[in-house]
Order: sequence, then C-alpha cells, then structure tokens
Amino acid sequence: MSLREAALAVRENAYVPYSRYKVGAALRTPSGAVYVGCNVENVAYPEGTCAEAGAIAAMVAAGETEIAEAYVIADAEHPVPPCGGCRQKLAEFAKSGVTVTLATLDGTEHVTKVAELLPGAFSASHMERT
Ligand code: THU
Repeated sequence: MSLREAALAVRENAYVPYSRYKVGAALRTPSGAVYVGCNVENVAYPEGTCAEAGAIAAMVAAGETEIAEAYVIADAEHPVPPCGGCRQKLAEFAKSGVTVTLATLDGTEHVTKVAELLPGAFSASHMERT
C-alpha cells in the first residue's frame, strides 16, 4: 500500500466534530513498515491531537523511532501545511533530508523536506557546551 493510500484510508477515521477538517498521515520507516494517524479532536480544544502526532505515536508504540518518509492529506484547496508543533515532532524522528509530501484529496501534492518545514530547528546539540 502506498503512503497516499494509507493516509487516505486513515483520514476517514478522523474524529473532527469541531473543525470538520479530516487529516490523515502516514509514515514509512527504514524497516518498510507504515504507521498511520488521524486527527482526534476534543471538546477542550487544546487537547486535540494532529494526524501527524497520531502516526508518530503509533510508530513509537511499535518500537520504531526513525521516519524515512511522510505523507499528510486533507480535503483542502491547497496541500495542508503541518502546524508548528507537528513540524517539531517530525524533526524529532526524521533527518533533515526526509521527504514530506503534503496532499489534497484531488491529487495536488507539494513535496518538501523536514529541513524546509522547520529551518533553524532546535536540536539536542544546542544544549551542548564545551
Ligand atoms: N491538523 C492536523 O491533524 N494536521 C495538520 O497538519 C494541520 C491541522 C488538524 C488539527 C485539527 O483537528 C484540525 O486539523 C484543524 O486545525
């Protein structure tokens, strides 16, 4: 199954009574496994979680910690830009050159990279002092 198909399928399960904006995310790891997530909203709005966060949680729960490729899809006019928090979450598990494809239901795709989504990312190296 392609990442697009996986993201498209899980998007259907998004729990979005407040925004009505379904998002699906799929990640492939170096092992070849695919992990998926959808957004899960909450009546206490800040408690809602993004599709990317769900897919990352599924990956980590399965014992994997490296993203080789990511795909995010929503029903929008333009490909969905991940929120700031999700850019940081992706950067935690993906090298800067990892491809992230942002897509719409009608087939438009914007292919980008983790480094483009989060230039100047904060990393563990910033905490080191010699
Ligand atoms: N959302 C995601 O799941 N991923 C994104 O990249 C952007 C936004 C969700 C959060 C919320 O449930 C809805 O889209 C509207 O913001």
